[in-house]
Amino acid sequence: MKPDLAIDGTFYIDGMLVRTSVGIKDGIIISVRKGIDASERVSFDNSIILPGAVDLHVHFREPGLTQKEDITSGSISAAFGGVTCVGEMPNTVPPATTPDRVERKIELFRSKSYVDFIIYAGLMEGVRIGPLSSVAAAFKMYMGSTTGDLLCDDPDVQWDLIRRSAEAGKVVIVHAEEESRRNRISERNLRDHYRARPPACEIEAVRRLAVYSEREPKPRIHVAHTTVREAVDLNHPQNMTFEVTPHHLLLDYDMHLGSRGKVNPPLRRREDRTSLLRLLESGMIQTVGSDHSPHTLEEKGDEFDYAPSGLPGVETLLPLLLNMVANEELSMQAFVRAACEKPAQLLGLRKGRIAAGYDADFAVVNMKKSVQINADKLHYKCRWSPFEGMYGIFPDSVFLRGEEVIRNGALVGKPRGRNASA
Ligand code: NCD
Ligand code: ZN
Ligand code: ZN
Repeated sequence: MKPDLAIDGTFYIDGMLVRTSVGIKDGIIISVRKGIDASERVSFDNSIILPGAVDLHVHFREPGLTQKEDITSGSISAAFGGVTCVGEMPNTVPPATTPDRVERKIELFRSKSYVDFIIYAGLMEGVRIGPLSSVAAAFKMYMGSTTGDLLCDDPDVQWDLIRRSAEAGKVVIVHAEEESRRNRISERNLRDHYRARPPACEIEAVRRLAVYSEREPKPRIHVAHTTVREAVDLNHPQNMTFEVTPHHLLLDYDMHLGSRGKVNPPLRRREDRTSLLRLLESGMIQTVGSDHSPHTLEEKGDEFDYAPSGLPGVETLLPLLLNMVANEELSMQAFVRAACEKPAQLLGLRKGRIAAGYDADFAVVNMKKSVQINADKLHYKCRWSPFEGMYGIFPDSVFLRGEEVIRNGALVGKPRGRNASA
């Protein structure tokens, strides 16, 4: 079979940088070797070619909250940041808790998204797990309250939903903050937000999840946005995995971010960042996800106590972490494992690896091109970033299933995103 396209360059393949060629047919990698003959070819010098990142945690706010973001702006931002597949959370308006709503979201993404996607359904008492599991890629459960009304804090209901998800063969991604461990205090700053949702909130919730994880039928639980080492260190079985966000790795409560740094779970202490980074490097934390949660500057400008929690990050996830790789704070192996391989593997997607049979999704980066992050140059509808002024390595070109979405730093693609879990 002759490929439609061959790309020549230095690829990251199974832990190594290799100078070779990749042959692509119908958007899929069909061969990886030198001297591939193809109808068309492109080559990249002074760059390395990584698998596109798979960000399993975004909130693109459509339908219902499109003053904050929408599928068009969110997915264009993802593409510019080298993210070729996103996992969309259910806390939209209305929430994605019925098969019809999930299907409607899939349709919206299909017509608008510039990158591939998977859609999650929200778990709450009374949802129909069977019908939902045939349309949603995975499920999301909120043990603690956060943006939206998807709270599920009753342990009996939690286990019942997790058990039935396991029977349906679905991964459950969990917002793990124990509602009863929250402190109802009025908040004026990031330290107050930390105290309102102390580490015990997360540790308790994860402890409970570890108990669920031991039961039969063995559920697949992925803990979203982990912020404290003690939660990961609890005795837990292999079927429980963890995500960390760039903001919990790079920001802390002593930074002068005001309500822009208000997020759930809260930004922690500086030393927590260091321990999270170690857990990511060692693989104890398996994935990195942005928890891209945009709110408008007007909403964030409200008094601290009333300002909504959440911050944008899908476009800066790969750039910030690659900058850490360039500074030797994180290994390239750990980066590719957590941003590409593991998230795809977790949900059974043919993505995140440069190998025959996988989608031809790539981020082409020049590791010497570190630039300062400036929200004016990002593509979020909300027009701000908590990482303003920090350094990032943005991809020059991004391929989605064999076609360039971004070329030389400009958008050239069309909205041809696909449901990656179908
Ligand atoms: C998220 C949001 O705004 O949708 N906010 C946040 O603080 N992380 C919801 C969530 O992921 O908890
Ligand atoms: Zn959450
Ligand atoms: Zn989230």
